[in-house]
Amino acid sequence: MERGLALLGLGLALLLLAPSRRLASAAPVEDGLLINGDFETAPPGGFVKSASVSEGAAIPSWTINGTVELISAGQHQGGMILIVPQGDHAVRLGNDAGIGQVVQVEKGSEYAITFSAARTCAQLESLNISAGSVSQTVDLQTLYSIEGWDAYALAFQAVDEQASIEFRNPGMEDDPTCGPILDNVAIKKLFSPDKAKENMVINGDFEEGPWMFPNTSFGVLLPTNLDEQTSALPGWMIESNRAVRFVDSDQYTVPQGKRAIELLSGKEGIISQMVETTPQKAYTLTFTLGSAGDSCQPPMAVMAFAGDQAQNFHYAPMGNATSQAVNVNFTARAERTRVALYSVYYNTRSDDHSSLCGPVIDDVRVWGLNGAAGLKASIGLLIAMASVIVLVLF
Ligand SMILES: *[C@@H]1O[C@H](CO)[C@@H](O)[C@H](O)[C@H]1NC(C)=O
Ligand SMILES: *[C@@H]1O[C@H](CO)[C@@H](O)[C@H](O)[C@H]1NC(C)=O
Ligand SMILES: *[C@@H]1O[C@H](CO)[C@@H](O)[C@H](O)[C@H]1NC(C)=O
Ligand SMILES: *[C@@H]1O[C@H](CO)[C@@H](O)[C@H](O)[C@H]1NC(C)=O
Ligand SMILES: *[C@@H]1O[C@H](CO)[C@@H](O)[C@H](O)[C@H]1NC(C)=O
Repeated sequence: MERGLALLGLGLALLLLAPSRRLASAAPVEDGLLINGDFETAPPGGFVKSASVSEGAAIPSWTINGTVELISAGQHQGGMILIVPQGDHAVRLGNDAGIGQVVQVEKGSEYAITFSAARTCAQLESLNISAGSVSQTVDLQTLYSIEGWDAYALAFQAVDEQASIEFRNPGMEDDPTCGPILDNVAIKKLFSPDKAKENMVINGDFEEGPWMFPNTSFGVLLPTNLDEQTSALPGWMIESNRAVRFVDSDQYTVPQGKRAIELLSGKEGIISQMVETTPQKAYTLTFTLGSAGDSCQPPMAVMAFAGDQAQNFHYAPMGNATSQAVNVNFTARAERTRVALYSVYYNTRSDDHSSLCGPVIDDVRVWGLNGAAGLKASIGLLIAMASVIVLVLF
């Protein structure tokens, strides 16, 4: 027993003395690109044009299953050039083929995976992403940008110290050279911002969200996510079958802070949050409605739902402003009230007439209108808590 304790003490001492670098191998993954997440590390023997890599062959740092092909920028197939979202290389997943990587994570924490994907053939193509215990299929049929690829994000909660991240092509095409292209896989640990005192909305300024590459001009698409507990955009759900776009101020005009949401897909791109409310109490929902500065063709408008209200607001800023404040007064009917926003129109950019775009929303707030009632409620709560304490003590 004593010897065990002594050994334990020695172990602890060694652990404390050990330079932190020694522990790095078990340290959780850092935010950013996964190891060889951009597929730019040459396999043993170097990159070979049009080389199919099958089971057993190597793509550094990844495990593959089925026919996975490393493709190069400029590579032709049939009459077309294959799309490589970033750098010179990407991978293409053949029928039922998969590629994955295991990362060290912090058990219980939430993470978002960001990746770029493109389709190769005109048919419906999709990617099934599994991370930790969640799996989701992202449909690549809708192209949101004219570049031919989009970046997507989805979230998972780490149920263990390791998480396996896998991308699989669930397709079974007649043409085996079809199949989605994958590139730029990154990870970010998510934080759920605390609820502000004066605002019932969590992450209403959209500052917390998935990893974004500093130089990608197309933002990150957030596909359907009905799980409010695990969301790449903490606090929010994407209720619709189309995505909304997470944008940052490096590439877009953002009303407040560094990040915002661009509503892309008309009524098919709905973002929502359930906020805590007191039934019969009056509240105000405010948000900023803006233009992303991406040549989006007007008219732009947002439909806002809150409690018993549904109102639409046209984007018509004063003078040379690029955003305007909007407010909706509503009465709560329940202890949780759904706040939801979507774009009224289907907009496209004026420079290419096909990339989807739309109004930008930011700084979403909900607060009680009758301050006195809120104060009374908290005084009531204090008295109740005090009585409980008195009861327990005496
Ligand atoms: C490869 O995929 C097949 C089909 O999904 C699966 O049955 C098999 O277990 C996978 N193999 C590995 C090594 O992951
Ligand atoms: C994705 O693939 C996993 C593992 O192969 C499977 O269990 C899951 O049902 C698939 N998810 C979807 C949404 O298709
Ligand atoms: C981002 O852009 C800057 C300036 O154009 C460039 O120097 C830098 O290498 C780019 N970074 C990446 C990751 O592409
Ligand atoms: C709007 O225009 C006025 C006059 O042209 C200018 O002084 C002001 O800085 C502009 N404001 C913004 C936000 O660009
Ligand atoms: C909402 O209520 C506030 C306070 O009563 C009021 O000042 C504001 O004008 C109302 N807004 C709308 C759009 O009715």
